[in-house]
Amino acid sequence: MSTYKQKVIILDFGSQTTQLIARRIREQKVYSEIHPYTLELAELKAMQPTGIVLSGSPASVYDADAPISDPGIFTLGIPILGICYGAQLMMVQQGGRVERAEKREFGQSRLNIAYTGGIFAGMEIAPAHYQVWMSHGDRIEELAPGFEVTATSDHSPYAALRHVDQPFVAVQFHPEVAHTLIGNDILRNFIFGICGCQPNWTMHSFIETTVAEIRAQVGSEQVICALSGGVDSSVTAALVHRAIGDQLTCIYVNNGLMRTGESESVLRFFREKTHLHVIDVDATNFFLTALQGVVDPEEKRKRIGYGFIDIFEKEAGKLGTVRYLAQGTLYPDVIESVVFRGKAPIKSHHNVGGLPERMHLALIEPLRELFKDEVRELGLQLGLPEEAIFRQPFPGPGLGIRIMGEVTVDRLAILRQADVIVLEEMKDSGWYRKVWQSFAVLLPIQTVGVMGDSRTYEHVIALRAVESRDAMTADWARLPYEILGRISNRIINEVRGVNRVVYDISSKPPATIEWE
Ligand code: XMP
Repeated sequence: MSTYKQKVIILDFGSQTTQLIARRIREQKVYSEIHPYTLELAELKAMQPTGIVLSGSPASVYDADAPISDPGIFTLGIPILGICYGAQLMMVQQGGRVERAEKREFGQSRLNIAYTGGIFAGMEIAPAHYQVWMSHGDRIEELAPGFEVTATSDHSPYAALRHVDQPFVAVQFHPEVAHTLIGNDILRNFIFGICGCQPNWTMHSFIETTVAEIRAQVGSEQVICALSGGVDSSVTAALVHRAIGDQLTCIYVNNGLMRTGESESVLRFFREKTHLHVIDVDATNFFLTALQGVVDPEEKRKRIGYGFIDIFEKEAGKLGTVRYLAQGTLYPDVIESVVFRGKAPIKSHHNVGGLPERMHLALIEPLRELFKDEVRELGLQLGLPEEAIFRQPFPGPGLGIRIMGEVTVDRLAILRQADVIVLEEMKDSGWYRKVWQSFAVLLPIQTVGVMGDSRTYEHVIALRAVESRDAMTADWARLPYEILGRISNRIINEVRGVNRVVYDISSKPPATIEWE
């Protein structure tokens, strides 16, 4: 648990935009954390929040199984902002009434402000009006005692409320989304004006706090870290190294499924540009043998995952007594595993999963409170080069899950050549950093073509390029035809054994980003 002095706690009732609330508050340099609505009152109190936000929810407060937080939060003397469902819950728990609305209100709406203090400080009273974004099917019918209306909208006579002598405010609309043009002003007024926060949560302060925490946690023990060359593990290693120096050893396992030159450039970078102690293991043969004859995607993932654990454990065993494993878990992973607990995974994401239990290692997860863009900023502050920071994500099982069917040396060679071309063209055209990921996939079929005057019967490469914020959802990138054309041309001309290139135009869901 973090030790920041000032923090705003968000109680999550399942809204799609809960994460956005946290981001918007952090953008104001105030630390903010999301917890499930079931958080115990005593736990919440122990966190000493400076303010509390109640998120929206797809549920209705009067549903039998509605998510209801402990009403005791209203007795703590801490400022509370209710958003949408959070506003309705506040009303109900304080003695008001909420009912299903005749007209649901979705999308943009006009807000007329009646009171320009509190969350509306600095804004203008009606007839001036502001664009806000609504998404609710229920409405407040009767105010709880002590509350008054501070704004109305086209369909909501109770679009915003405040308690007249307690620090409780509520809005029926969503201040965290970009379509609410005054959203940031409202959140700023809440966290600075009403909660009295100071804007002092920065990456610099994060580094200082985290370094001190890691030192206190680790003492003089040894720590290991699995380095993949990706942003998360690189930044984790750099941060832990800043805290405990040579007590950290990184292990880089080359599973033989990396892109062309990837292992060499990762190792060169860490050895030349940082003072990290990196052990590298070339386990290419081990993995290729383990993958012989395997075509089932989950089976591939399992073999690669378990193989990794075996190799890692063996190498770590040579180091003597190690007590800790540093791992680059990010905040969305943490929230995901809390909110969607119990749901079957779509794919097993094997990186270091299983290691901590098997080796009796305690975890150090210094990034578990950060979003991806914050991790990138942190990496830059720690001195990692842009090239490492803005690298596209690359899956742990590597090219193994981009070769449909059996993974063989020959098929790896074909995919690697195609992959280099995709990378080069994406970088040259400036599209590499505009998309979330872009890569080639080798299909398990051959098709007929003609080259020179002869018939060919060769492999197909699929191109995948997606836009995404967090990989939870993704859309295929609208790459210009010229780039698609150039990539296709080069692959067919330069990669022996390929006579056809296709472009994947599926979104996630229902497809996923990787093909396996
Ligand atoms: P999917 O294919 O599930 O991928 O839409 C979502 C994101 O996760 C990456 N990915 C992985 N990353 N180990 C990883 O570290 C894995 O096993 C793994 N599988 C998929 C994928 O590249 C995308 O960014």
